[in-house]
Parts: sequence; structure tokens; C-alpha cells
Amino acid sequence: MTTHYPPEPFRIKVTEAIRLIPREAREAALKEAGYNLFLMKAEDIFIDLLTDSGTGAMSQEQWAALMRGDESYAGARSFHRLKSAVDDIFGFKYFVPTHQGRAAENILAACLVKPGQYVPSNMHFDTTDANIRARGGRPVNLVIDEAHDPENRHPFKGNMDIAKLRAFIEKVGVKNIPLGMVTVTNNAGGGQPVSMENLKAIAQVYREYDIPFFIDAARYAENCFFIKQREPGYESKCVKEIAREMFALADGMTMSAKKDAIVNIGGLLCMNDETLFQNVKNELILREGFPTYGGLAGRDLDAMAVGLYEGLDEDYLAYRLGQTAYLTSRLNEVGIPTIQPAGGHGVYVNAGAVFPHIPNYEFPAQALAVELYREGGIRGVEIGSVMFACLNPETNEWHYPKLELLRLAIPRRTYTQSHLDYVAETLAKIKSRAGSVRGYKFTYAPELLRHFTARFEPL
Ligand SMILES: Cc1ncc(COP(=O)(O)O)c(C=O)c1O
Repeated sequence: MTTHYPPEPFRIKVTEAIRLIPREAREAALKEAGYNLFLMKAEDIFIDLLTDSGTGAMSQEQWAALMRGDESYAGARSFHRLKSAVDDIFGFKYFVPTHQGRAAENILAACLVKPGQYVPSNMHFDTTDANIRARGGRPVNLVIDEAHDPENRHPFKGNMDIAKLRAFIEKVGVKNIPLGMVTVTNNAGGGQPVSMENLKAIAQVYREYDIPFFIDAARYAENCFFIKQREPGYESKCVKEIAREMFALADGMTMSAKKDAIVNIGGLLCMNDETLFQNVKNELILREGFPTYGGLAGRDLDAMAVGLYEGLDEDYLAYRLGQTAYLTSRLNEVGIPTIQPAGGHGVYVNAGAVFPHIPNYEFPAQALAVELYREGGIRGVEIGSVMFACLNPETNEWHYPKLELLRLAIPRRTYTQSHLDYVAETLAKIKSRAGSVRGYKFTYAPELLRHFTARFEPL
């Protein structure tokens, strides 16, 4: 049980006011947004746990770095400062900046994926999945079975199933696999880490079959800190050393810098292959910008260069992962089940178990998301049937996901322990009147990515 976590290794110099609007105003805001929290005004939210992506607080060093931004079109000083950080931390031969993670994925998929080809991973994040599909490719998820059991406390639930990976390659044939990936930590599976032992095994298989190996490194620093905490032999290594060991196994990486580089916007695409680099640069020029700025302002590159190091700071990482473990513990204490063990960047509440009387087709996790806002002005995100249920056109039957989850993502360096206590207390209040909460039905739902724009009505 985590009863506390290390104090914030920073003090607060600039504040941003947030307010809890009155209950009637929250009710009106919900109604106006069609009970979809994506459609609410941010100013009506008290604590925003919608995502940890681009929502963190930059440090004074990052704000100072913004002022040093060199906005030259080509060869800016900012690019070279970023290059020196990227070379030092990741160690790949070549890299380009991109405006965010999905832009790196788009360019990589454009350069490597042909229609009908497969890209295996532990679990692709949805933008990676979509970028592979957009090129006619087929993303394949080969995470270990333990990842699907919310109670299972496997320390590295993001691991890839190596036997499944081998069998898959043998089945579809190497020529149909232009690249292989792994996501660290596994966002789609609850922010769960991948062990170094597993990363080595994945690299070995890809190498054996000559398949280029790319890491989705959005939360690599959190993953490396989990390795330090949980994997024998890594206790006394520093996180940067662990990161170097991890990236030395791969041929390249994509990264949304909005996570572990603690910036509001930015991404990276790194690789060792020179021909690929040439092609990537051409794609980049077409879609993002010149290779030394890649769709970002010079000042963004500078903020990223500083943030990359801050994201590796071990006091910060101990506090950060401590926050997630703390909120998980506080919720479990009052009988609110979550995915176990605590992930890196968010707490995944098992909404199906909080509202066992609401069937999946009446969206229990959406009901919990709405209730959390109604009760306390808190915004989380539904990861359940609203997001994933789909109609099989052949059988005309609905397929529902195994779990109805509410994700509470924790922005970096943004909220304090009292905010987290408030979240736990609000959820406890909802649990005490859980039986009276009803489900929802759609009044509007687009065919694709419906969670962003759907509207609902309470039942
Ligand atoms: C694991 C992972 N990969 C890729 C992305 C896409 O990054 P971006 O939102 O910067 O495009 C995300 C974003 O949440 C992510 O979590």
C-alpha cells in the first residue's frame, strides 16, 4: 500500500488558477456538451486528468530556453542543441524533429509500410495503429496474456509474448514485415512497463529475421525507472544508462516528446539506416518542414532539449511514479478496483466493477466519467465501449471490449497530493451511491473515432 510519495522535487513559481464551478453550472455544462467530456470547455474543469500528453508544467530552465530559441529556417542553433541532447541520450546515428509523435509515425509508415504488410508490437497506441492502417498495413498486438487480466500483478505487464512473436513471423513470412515495434510503457495496456530482458529477447528475434526494430519511446524514461525499481541487476544503474542500453538494442525510435520530454508540443524520429534517413528527410520536407525544425519553432526545440534531461531526473521519476501508485492505493483502499499494478502515467479505474448493474451497452465507464465531473469537476477519459465497441458488418453483432475503464492520466509536475486526495475522495462519494447511477445512450455517434464527438442522453 502506498501511503505517501516523495515530495515534489520542485517548488511552485507560477500558478494557473482553477475553480470548481457550482453544481448547477456543472450540470448545465454536462448537458450542453451532450455528456461528452471531450466537448466541454476547459475553463469549466477543476482537475483535468484527460491526458498526460502535452499537459505538463515546464520548468524555469525550459521557459528560459524558449527565449534562446533560434528561429532561423535552416541549421538553427536550437536544432544543434536538441541534436546534442538526442545524440547523448538515445545514441542513434540520425534523427529529425517532428511536431508530435503521430507525425513521426506517419513519416516512418510512409517510408516503410506497403499495403498488406504487418507491423507487430506489444500493443500499438491508436495513432500508430491508424498510421500503419493508413498505408494499407496491418498492426498486430502480441502482448503477454497477463496484460489482459486487471488483477494480475506481473511487474512487466507491457512485455511482448516472444513465442507468439516468433510464431507470427513464421506464419506471415519475413518479407511481409517491414518493421517491428514495441511501445514503452504500454499506454494502451495501462501504462505498464517492458523489462530489459524482454526488450533484449524482442531485439534478438527481430535481428535474427532481419526486421528493423523501432521503439515507440513516448514514456521511455518512466519505463527505464520501472526497470531500475523492478528488474534484478538494474538497481544501481542510472536511468540514462538504462535508456542507452535500451536504445542500443533498436534500429530507431518514434517519440511523442509531449510525454517524457515534458514539453507542450514536439516529437522525434531517430534511426541508424542512412537510406531510410534520406527518405525520411524527403517526407519530412513534404509534410512537416525542413529537417532542422520539422514543424516546430526553434524555441520548441530548445524546450525539448532541456526537457529530455529533466524527464530523466531520478528524483522527479520517483515522485512521478509515486503519484500514480499513491492514487491507485487511495482508490483501492475504498474498494475502487483499478488495473494492477499501478502504471506509469495514469490510473485505470475498472468502471465495470464500480457499476456492475450498468451493462456494457449502456456505457458504465462513460457513466463514471460523467459522475466524476458532476460530483467534483474532474475530467477523465472513457476507455471502454464508447471508444472500442464495434459492429461486425457480417454478423450485424456488436463486439464489446473486455474491460470498461476510466483512465485518470496524471499531467507531469502539475497537480499536488491534495489534488489527488480530492480525486480519491470524490470517487469514494460516487461509490457510496453507485447503485443509483444510470447508464447512457447515444443521441449522435459518428462511425469512426466516435468518442471524440458523440453525444449522449442519460437513461
Ligand atoms: C504510446 C504513444 N505513442 C504515440 C502517441 C502519439 O503521440 P502524439 O499525441 O504526440 O501524436 C501517444 C500519445 O498519446 C502515445 O501514448
